[in-house]
Amino acid sequence: MATELADATPAPLGSWPTPLEAAPRLARALGLGPADLWVKRDDLTGLGGGGNKVRKLEWLCGAALARGADTLVTCGARQSNHARLTAAAGARLGLKVVLVLAGSARDPGEGNVALDGLLGASVVWAGDAAHEALDPMASGVLDRLRRKGARPELIPYGGSSVLGARGYVLCGHELLRQAPDLSTVVTALGSGGTMGGLVHALGAGRVLGVDCGAIEQPARTVGTLVAGLAGTAPDPVALKIRLDHVGAGYAVLTEPVMAALTLAARTEGIVLDPIYTGRALAGLMSAIADGQIKPGERTVLLHSGGLPGLFGHADTVARSAAALAELS
Ligand SMILES: Cc1ncc(COP(=O)(O)O)c(C=O)c1O
Repeated sequence: MATELADATPAPLGSWPTPLEAAPRLARALGLGPADLWVKRDDLTGLGGGGNKVRKLEWLCGAALARGADTLVTCGARQSNHARLTAAAGARLGLKVVLVLAGSARDPGEGNVALDGLLGASVVWAGDAAHEALDPMASGVLDRLRRKGARPELIPYGGSSVLGARGYVLCGHELLRQAPDLSTVVTALGSGGTMGGLVHALGAGRVLGVDCGAIEQPARTVGTLVAGLAGTAPDPVALKIRLDHVGAGYAVLTEPVMAALTLAARTEGIVLDPIYTGRALAGLMSAIADGQIKPGERTVLLHSGGLPGLFGHADTVARSAAALAELS
């Protein structure tokens, strides 16, 4: 573990451990044995509607508080779960929150955007800026706040710094206590910190990342985070990352993802989201189909949250409503 992280203290924000639940009906539907597949319920992390970012924010907010911050600034997509949970963390800790979000105030305010407002965050709309442009815009907001006498702290895109990834090192250890015979944990790969932390805890061979198309170079990003945690040189080659479920791009609904959402909902009553966790399950289905994951191996699907984003995703809402009409 890199030495500069040694004295970091997390701010308590979540409820731990999250449950690890058997998913026998989903397992059978995927061609696995009933005891092969488990779901790590990191959608149930407790704060602000839950999700994986709570684990990262504990560390990032702990550092912000130690530096005397009074405001958290972060950035993301319009339906960013990370932004919503940063807003919730700020509310819990008595800090102001400014979100730099892609999109415009004129777009409909559903899903995570509604919760951002409810949680009391202010939003700077970034237009149709690509994610690489959001970080510099957030730095500009930080400068403006400093000039006004505030003490703002930048929370990185997706919470994915080496410090934020520590939350998923702890999740990896938690998972090993719950499932010592774990063979593979399958996770959505967005900004990379979730996979990075899990790889540090479990080793590259036991973590399968399913890229969601949020960043340009997922292997290099995860490799850099893993190296930062370990204090070694990056080794992106060792990482297991599936690139076959990005489809037409970040947040664009694909047929395999819609099929995955429907299957998880109808076999286990578990609701995944169309941007991240639906892709993780679609990737797991492909991994079983091509023999990367086999019956008899203890496999865990990380449910990293994202449900509010489903309500902000027009295509998924329309397809789900259409399914209801067909079944009625
Ligand atoms: C629900 C959900 N799952 C998974 C991820 C991916 O996590 P990471 O950004 O750490 O790769 C995100 C990222 O925003 C997310 O919101």
